[in-house]
Amino acid sequence: MAYGDTAIEAVDVRKRYRGKVALDGFDLTVEAGTVCGLLGPNGAGKTTAVRILTTLLRPDGGRVRVAGRDVLADPRAVRYRIGLVGQDTSVDEVLSGRQNLVLFGKLCHLPTAAARRRADELLERFELTGAADRSVAGYSGGMRRRLDLATSLILSPPVLFLDEPTTGLDPRTRIDVWACVKSLVGDGTTVLLTTQYLEEADQLADRIAVIDAGRVVAEGTPDELKAKVGPDRVETVTRKPTLDEVFLHLTGHRPTTEPS
Ligand SMILES: Nc1ncnc2c1ncn2[C@@H]1O[C@H](COP(=O)(O)OP(=O)(O)OP(=O)(O)O)[C@@H](O)[C@H]1O
Ligand SMILES: [Mg+2]
Repeated sequence: MAYGDTAIEAVDVRKRYRGKVALDGFDLTVEAGTVCGLLGPNGAGKTTAVRILTTLLRPDGGRVRVAGRDVLADPRAVRYRIGLVGQDTSVDEVLSGRQNLVLFGKLCHLPTAAARRRADELLERFELTGAADRSVAGYSGGMRRRLDLATSLILSPPVLFLDEPTTGLDPRTRIDVWACVKSLVGDGTTVLLTTQYLEEADQLADRIAVIDAGRVVAEGTPDELKAKVGPDRVETVTRKPTLDEVFLHLTGHRPTTEPS
């Protein structure tokens, strides 16, 4: 996809699960080569949106195009052009990291030799070469996530979907995963990632779409959105909260009149 093309376009997408509304007029446009952060709380509709955009779920209404193809009319073509890292890990626990990657390569119809070569490249890129022949059951959460990312990149897809890539990871591992995502973007991959963390969207995304109750309620660059929320704010937590201690801490002197 060329820079300036639209990589992901969803227009008025609707989805109900047995009468319960999950997406309610969801609209989103993501330019090629950019990272979009879909930010929202539990149950907002993030996974539903990702499943529809990646052909795994049919919407009840609306239009969806990904990588230049219509998701409903041409799901096969879309599948060849996307990668998906789901909210739950998709790798096999019993197999080693290398075996997982070779298996996924073959599932993508690569000949065995090419699947092995690609596995080696991806193990190297995600710093898993040392653990390549160990069973995934012994991997840390961060190693599993890196392997998940690697499996989604076997065919070097131009559009990548990451559903909550760092939920449940410790802060250091989260930074490792962020670095992996940043390196992908350097390659020109378009990324849609969902997250519940403003900080994560702020770190990674060119634009953020805030989703709530199945629709996008705000959209813009991280700076535009932060400006809308208001100026900087200082929150102070004290163990023994007295107002003049807080005042002293913030200003360096005691208040002149006793607070009532
Ligand atoms: N298979 C299903 N059957 C019934 N309701 C569902 C199903 N999947 C999701 N829902 C409901 O649809 C709404 C949107 O769910 P979704 O999983 O898309 O949210 P989410 O933003 O991904 O949340 P989370 O941050 O918890 O992953 C929620 O109210 C959820 O309970
Ligand atoms: Mg979800």
